[in-house]
Amino acid sequence: MTERTTLTEVRPPVRHWPVVDLPGAEFDPVLAELMAEGPVTRIQLPNGEGWAWLVTRYEDVRRVANDPRFGREAVMEKQVTRLAPHFIPDRGAVGFLDPPEHTLLRRSVAPAFTTKGVERVRGRARAMLDELVDELLRGGPPADLTSAVLTPFPIAVICELMGVPAGDRHSMHIWTQLILSSAHGKEVPERAKREMAAYFSDLIGLRENSTGEDVTSLLGAAVGRGEITPEQAVGLAVLLQIGGEAVTANSGQLFYLLLTRPHLAERLRAEPEIRPRAIDELLRYIPHRNAVGLSRIALEDVDVAGVRIRAGEPVYVSYLAANRDPGVFSDPDGIDFSRSPNPHVAFGFGPHYCPGGMLARLEEELLTDALLDRVPKMRLAVPPDQVFFRKGALIRGPEALPVTW
Ligand code: HEM
Repeated sequence: MTERTTLTEVRPPVRHWPVVDLPGAEFDPVLAELMAEGPVTRIQLPNGEGWAWLVTRYEDVRRVANDPRFGREAVMEKQVTRLAPHFIPDRGAVGFLDPPEHTLLRRSVAPAFTTKGVERVRGRARAMLDELVDELLRGGPPADLTSAVLTPFPIAVICELMGVPAGDRHSMHIWTQLILSSAHGKEVPERAKREMAAYFSDLIGLRENSTGEDVTSLLGAAVGRGEITPEQAVGLAVLLQIGGEAVTANSGQLFYLLLTRPHLAERLRAEPEIRPRAIDELLRYIPHRNAVGLSRIALEDVDVAGVRIRAGEPVYVSYLAANRDPGVFSDPDGIDFSRSPNPHVAFGFGPHYCPGGMLARLEEELLTDALLDRVPKMRLAVPPDQVFFRKGALIRGPEALPVTW
């Protein structure tokens, strides 16, 4: 056997990826170096144990994310090197299931997240946004766009889609913040998660015979038909509710880019018809997260870009890196509103692709329309380097966005 001498057995050195807080929408320089070092490298992140493979090229990222020989369930058994300090995955959570169980669970809520499904909430979403912008204008400048609009709007929309009554929005937001925070140790986020789960358990329980189109009705009906368990339904509801607030950080980066590059905002004001395409280009460009998200485990030996990944080894894909692959996107570090086609993977790829993609696009479209058209003179109230971004966060975005007009 000459296997040991083949190229596929050459292992690159393990690179420590410290993951520091980066200013604005700057692309992580360590990730840029890793992309240059090879299609497949090895990394060690601040938490967890050992090392993991990292795949950065567009085609390889899509292949790994869509290949059933890389599984998520097996991640539960390991302490894979990772960014997140706490790793308390719930067995059966959507991120850690593999097909066919994963497919059944995702299918139960799919109708709510299609283009048609999210259109159902467009009218209500626009009305809620108009109220927030009315209030912003009534209060006068200066204002913090994040707390005035970019935080309450996605909460209101995800609650609407979930079928959570308006009176409970505030509790949902508090629970979400506590679950996502790393500042309170382990106990506080765990308790918040249990409380949100108990809330959804009651709501879904009441909707077992429902024919409603909101997410908790769809989950209740799927439980009623015996397709998914009540625990799975509750776990998915919690993740969708939390996921809904990802739009706050992402749209925060989007408006930071428009406010610090006024020529982009001017073009969108002058040519409203290009806004949907421009939003996709901004989604491609925005570094949504720090480092990488959930790993996958090789279930057998697999060769990726000439490198042999052994059964049992963890692998990360970087969607951020894939979105800057010069082989797919010309001038990948530039923002080009006429880019077409734009097959970015900001929402992931394969069975775990983000269910909230259509909803996030709809919200960012409504936000862009409302803020560009109704507050045409909006500009940053402070120099760009005085806009402070979340520290030690998994998802990147401005803490506050001080604006004036
Ligand atoms: C998963 C991006 C908004 C809920 C993901 C993934 C990405 C992503 C990259 C991981 C795919 C993978 O594991 O391979 C984004 C971005 C958003 C956004 C950039 C905003 C602009 C949302 C919203 C929701 C949501 C609004 C809720 C409605 C989820 C859930 C998963 C997920 C539940 C796990 C899916 C699974 O493992 O099957 N998202 N997301 N996200 N997202 Fe989002």
